[in-house]
Amino acid sequence: QAFFKPIQQTAPPSPTQRHTKISVIGAGNVGMAIAQTILTQDLVDVLALVDAKPDKLRGEMLDLQHAAAFLPRTRILADTDYAVTAGSDLCIVTAGARQNPGESRLSLLQRNLALFRSIVPPLAKYSPDAILLIVSNPVDVLTYVAWKLSGFPPNRVIGSGTNLDSSRFRFLIADHLDVNAQDVQAYIVGEHGDSSVALWSSISVGGVPILSFLERQEISYEKETLEKIHKEVVQSAYEVISLKGYTSWAIGYSVANLARSILRDQRRIHPVSVLAKGFYGISDGDAFLSLPAQLGRSGVLGVTNVHLTEEEGQKLRDSAKTILEVQSELGI
Ligand code: NAD
Ligand code: LAC
Repeated sequence: QAFFKPIQQTAPPSPTQRHTKISVIGAGNVGMAIAQTILTQDLVDVLALVDAKPDKLRGEMLDLQHAAAFLPRTRILADTDYAVTAGSDLCIVTAGARQNPGESRLSLLQRNLALFRSIVPPLAKYSPDAILLIVSNPVDVLTYVAWKLSGFPPNRVIGSGTNLDSSRFRFLIADHLDVNAQDVQAYIVGEHGDSSVALWSSISVGGVPILSFLERQEISYEKETLEKIHKEVVQSAYEVISLKGYTSWAIGYSVANLARSILRDQRRIHPVSVLAKGFYGISDGDAFLSLPAQLGRSGVLGVTNVHLTEEEGQKLRDSAKTILEVQSELGI
């Protein structure tokens, strides 16, 4: 009961009670960067946080709630019990171990697999119609795990995948060419990690296809320059982790951007981790890896037919093989 009634109500209660709700599992560096970016973007009515550490969780919830005077109105909830996630439209999973400096993402698998067994089933139970967006690493294999453990159709299980790598790629190309990264269309596909594939043949800047432009103008470019940029993308996370211990801001923006495309039915194309069987000659197994996919309110709406060179196609299939080999040892 409120102690003071500042407003004399004149309208009857709203006949519709539809709320948009996102749950973020894991209130660590990544989960909180995602949560705060979502809040600033006015994406949802309810934001629920879950973590295994109750004090840390409550501290993070209060700290965000105390920003209410500067943010669009959003109800922020937090609990260690998954009941708090009930009725979510989107569940974003960031809980789990992260890499130590120099450690690969794939080496986190056994630790995070065990956590997923306690996270995904309750999420699926409390929000049977939700879309699951997986961020914990190794993200591609854990997206497969989440698909299996949830029993959801593949269009409703997505990994944040190379949306982040592609942003790093666009930043580096933009920096190199002195243009705005938002004008650079460029995709990294495949594994979010060491075997990712740069699609050089389809890069364009402001609608100008870069490689064919250079070839037409007979401007020579060094293949090594291109490879160096891709290498820098692959090294990005290792560098940031060795410098500050973890990555957070870019993944926060990247995932909030995916959440917007999904919940606001934007039908935008994002390179994200999807069930890849049947695309680009990937025929064996149920590997999840990043392909340029159209995202909307029902999750993955389709996969874009980007033209790949023979070499790019082969690298993508090799990346799928790497992931499948890891998956085959899971026994799921
Ligand atoms: P962190 O250690 O800061 O946070 C992890 C959180 O998970 C902690 O708060 C911990 O209490 C919580 N947690 C652990 N077990 C849990 C459980 N069973 N239920 C609920 N919460 C639990 O780590 P971080 O820096 O936030 O990274 C989190 C994950 O995100 C790591 O796996 C990291 O590799 C991954 N990551 C992925 C990307 C990407 O592009 N996909 C980018 C950055 C980080
Ligand atoms: C990234 C994490 C570590 O920032 O996967 O790429």
